[in-house]
Amino acid sequence: PVKVTKICCIGAGYVGGPTCAVIALKCPEIQVTIVDLNKARVDAWNSDDFDLPIYEPGLEEVVRQCRGRNLFFSTDVDKGILEADLIFVSVNTPTKKSGVGAGFAADLNYVELATRRIAAVATSSKIVVEKSTVPCRTAESMRTILEANSKPGCRFDILSNPEFLAEGTAITDLFSPDRVLIGSLQTKEGKDACRSLTDVYAHWVPIERIVTVGLWSSELSKLAANAMLAQRISSINALSAICEATGANIDEVANAVGKDSRVGPKFLRASVGFGGSCFQKDILNLVYLSESLHLPEVAAYWRQVVEMNEYQKGRFSKRVVDTLFNTITGKKIAILGFAFKADTGDTRESAAITLIKNFQAERALVTIYDPQVLHSQIWSDLMEASSGVPLETIKRQVSIASSALEACRDAEAVVIATEWKEFRTINWEGVYSHMTKPAFIFDGRLLLDAEKLRDIGFKVTVIGRGERL
Ligand code: NAD
Ligand code: UDX
Repeated sequence: PVKVTKICCIGAGYVGGPTCAVIALKCPEIQVTIVDLNKARVDAWNSDDFDLPIYEPGLEEVVRQCRGRNLFFSTDVDKGILEADLIFVSVNTPTKKSGVGAGFAADLNYVELATRRIAAVATSSKIVVEKSTVPCRTAESMRTILEANSKPGCRFDILSNPEFLAEGTAITDLFSPDRVLIGSLQTKEGKDACRSLTDVYAHWVPIERIVTVGLWSSELSKLAANAMLAQRISSINALSAICEATGANIDEVANAVGKDSRVGPKFLRASVGFGGSCFQKDILNLVYLSESLHLPEVAAYWRQVVEMNEYQKGRFSKRVVDTLFNTITGKKIAILGFAFKADTGDTRESAAITLIKNFQAERALVTIYDPQVLHSQIWSDLMEASSGVPLETIKRQVSIASSALEACRDAEAVVIATEWKEFRTINWEGVYSHMTKPAFIFDGRLLLDAEKLRDIGFKVTVIGRGERL
């Protein structure tokens, strides 16, 4: 097997950045270069004051230790490719917006462009690692492209090495992964390439956690893992609707169910709906794959996980309107949290976007506060969600506050959309005294102590609880 000394990662995003920064930290003798076409992003990774393009607890410390030593960020994609003996392809694979499979299939254009660039530039053999989440058998297409365009004497071995990190906990997930999955062809060359990558991870990951499988199993396992995680959330959210209708308490149900060691306690927190760049995209991808394979029942099964999530967001919005005496027109509603989960500034597919859109449609006045998300990001998300409504028009209904207290001033209702810990320690008495009465709180994240809030005077509605306000 080739001993890896130089790694290039194409794509300096949420996955490529943290993953390869951690490889650089743990493998000081390997030179790691992360390249990206997006100059602003690369500049941010290189900024003197470490104003990194993504917020991730612990990431800055890792970058501070390695940048300039054996970790480099660059826009020179070709140089990165030329020098490396192992290349991660970690570009985005969003859901296709048009053409065949629009709304379901993964857009593989960026993967293909990166692959073609590798073939065009490489003058020596490379191990090419598919890090992006892709449909089953994409590695096959990458191999065909590479082989059809390679220079004489260059061979390309393709590996699949999907990433399982979750945002907000990326660094701890990377330091101590449940498993690292590497898929390869079961040929001698394929297995050798797999050894080379295994040796990189073995610098810090116990060998029994490095799982090696066939290429297609590896690709499918990534989609399967995300589909099953999302399915747990849709299952608990479906049960939360029953709780609200019956007076059962979803926290108690989840706790009781999760005590069964076959089910386990994690990932059973009812919410306003899952968000993030992965779950919906990857399930839709699996739905498309199932349909392409003429398995309509399988496709329908997984599609329901996404439909339940849409239902949950709509159901929560409706509960807010119903509770506020069936109209929120002209009422001020404070939205606490805009990120799709706590500890990230990422807003992709955030449930908050849908809630706000629904409240806008009811002609409410919305004020948003989030401790991490950039204001410019909030505006661009709301513009995209309202397809073409000018920013000036949106701003007549929506504003952004710089603290939770400011967002809640004169509001009729507060909606918890993201589970930021700091919302627990807000001075709720102070908030109450500045709100219009009756003052309502809608906890979409099971975050707050409802009884304490009721003692202050709030009318509290909690997801998955059908009790008195
Ligand atoms: P991202 O959008 O944050 O980053 C991708 C980067 O690739 C962008 O900066 C883009 O400019 C760059 N890029 C695209 N085409 C390029 C090219 N031809 N040459 C150079 N740079 C190019 O995306 P991400 O969140 O890091 O996700 C990357 C992949 O990892 C996706 O397939 C995603 O499904 C998967 N994934 C994401 C997560 C997550 O939590 N975000 C977790 C696991 C897997
Ligand atoms: C997910 C997978 O967890 C990760 O393994 C994969 O690599 C990428 O996709 P991510 O989307 O970053 O990671 O975050 P995750 O913690 O999975 O949360 C996704 C969404 O589900 C968030 O909106 C979160 O708030 C929500 N969620 C999570 C719940 O509503 N309830 C839960 O119990 C857990």
